[in-house]
Amino acid sequence: MNPHNSLSYRVQPGGSLSGSVRVPGDKSISHRAVMLASLAEGVSEVRGFLTGEDCLCTMKAFRAMGVRIEQLQDAQLRIHGVGLRGLHGPADALDLGNSGTSMRLMAGLMAGQRFATTLTGDASLSRRPMRRIVEPLRLMGARIDTTPAGTAPLRIAPADRLQGIAFASKVASAQVKSGILLAGLYAEGRTEVTEPDASRDHTERMLRTFGVTVEAEPGRAALSGGQTLRAGDIKVPADISSATFFMVGAAIVPGSDLLLPDVGINPTRTGVIEILRRMGADIELLRPRSFGGEPVADLRVRGRRLRGIEVDRALVTAAIDEFPAIFIAAACADGHTLVTGAEELRVKESDRIQAMCDGLQRLGVAAAAEPDGARICGGRLGGGVVDSLGDHRIAMSFAIAALRAEQPLTILDCENVNTSFPGFAELAAGAGLRISALKPG
Ligand code: S3P
Repeated sequence: MNPHNSLSYRVQPGGSLSGSVRVPGDKSISHRAVMLASLAEGVSEVRGFLTGEDCLCTMKAFRAMGVRIEQLQDAQLRIHGVGLRGLHGPADALDLGNSGTSMRLMAGLMAGQRFATTLTGDASLSRRPMRRIVEPLRLMGARIDTTPAGTAPLRIAPADRLQGIAFASKVASAQVKSGILLAGLYAEGRTEVTEPDASRDHTERMLRTFGVTVEAEPGRAALSGGQTLRAGDIKVPADISSATFFMVGAAIVPGSDLLLPDVGINPTRTGVIEILRRMGADIELLRPRSFGGEPVADLRVRGRRLRGIEVDRALVTAAIDEFPAIFIAAACADGHTLVTGAEELRVKESDRIQAMCDGLQRLGVAAAAEPDGARICGGRLGGGVVDSLGDHRIAMSFAIAALRAEQPLTILDCENVNTSFPGFAELAAGAGLRISALKPG
């Protein structure tokens, strides 16, 4: 019986990954496509949209504000933009589920509206820090209340006016940067964000696709308020963060040979490729091309022996969502791996440093949590029961660890895999993972 009354995975040890696996659309880009197309003048089409729960929350929120969004096929949307000033106040609070991206980006957008909104989320999202976005928005003139702990629900009242700011963010966060830039569309004058390291730049790229003039360089982005967004068509690459589970799964089993088509290789996201290569992985980028403003390639990954490394801090931001899977690669590598400068992992959908180290220890791996990372000693992986804590990336990381485990693995609380990767278990089973999903009850 599953104590969480949620889906669990049962994964038999061994196997290898082979063939071609097309993972679903990029989550970050799918959110932005719905948001920007909704605010554009005219009709946009989005292909390759991720129909994961997180992006569906964004879609429902914009529908609740009067935007007509047709789902032509599973992953194809036609969005009838209403223009920057065309949204209507929603009847109820907007429930953004598990999605930090929806909440932080929409905090910025909602701050510029002439109606009030309340943004809510599930238990995990309601624990995540929101001051990092609320404080800069208040400097712009936004009227936003949080709980005393600085968390959601966010109650956003219409502001008299927003004023552009130059904001130096202490964290390298695309959610913070993007929320401020989106508020900047409604602000007087220029809005600029600088950050200590270059976070993903999908917002800047897509704003340009929609005809907005944006100044952008790694670590800095700026725009002027009042610009009109013009409808455009978006083709969403396969999500490198979802591809990562397969990349690591193939890399840790000598003899694996896997092709991952159409993967987004935006340089602000490819830290995982560099880290795995430095561990000795064989990853080739084939047919480099672009989907609109975003670079893509087909990735070919072949299994080899990996070695532990000291992960370069300069690669952390560009691999931030991939560390749970990188920890699994480290557990399967020869020697020690040290991750530092990654304290942001503690405020993701779960405390990913703790969740991964606890789970690895359950499998018999020497993994020591540090405030800003972990030290992992590669070795043999046993089996047993691991709690994903409802975090999609923890669940998928331990699922692929079974490829190198010596006994079966049970992973608890896996329902939220649907937030970013609907169909993960089926796709992974097709490629060679011995996984079955056990329904609650
Ligand atoms: C995201 C930015 C990152 C990332 C998240 C998606 C985005 O978060 O972890 O999964 O789409 O902007 P932070 O901005 O908090 O680093």
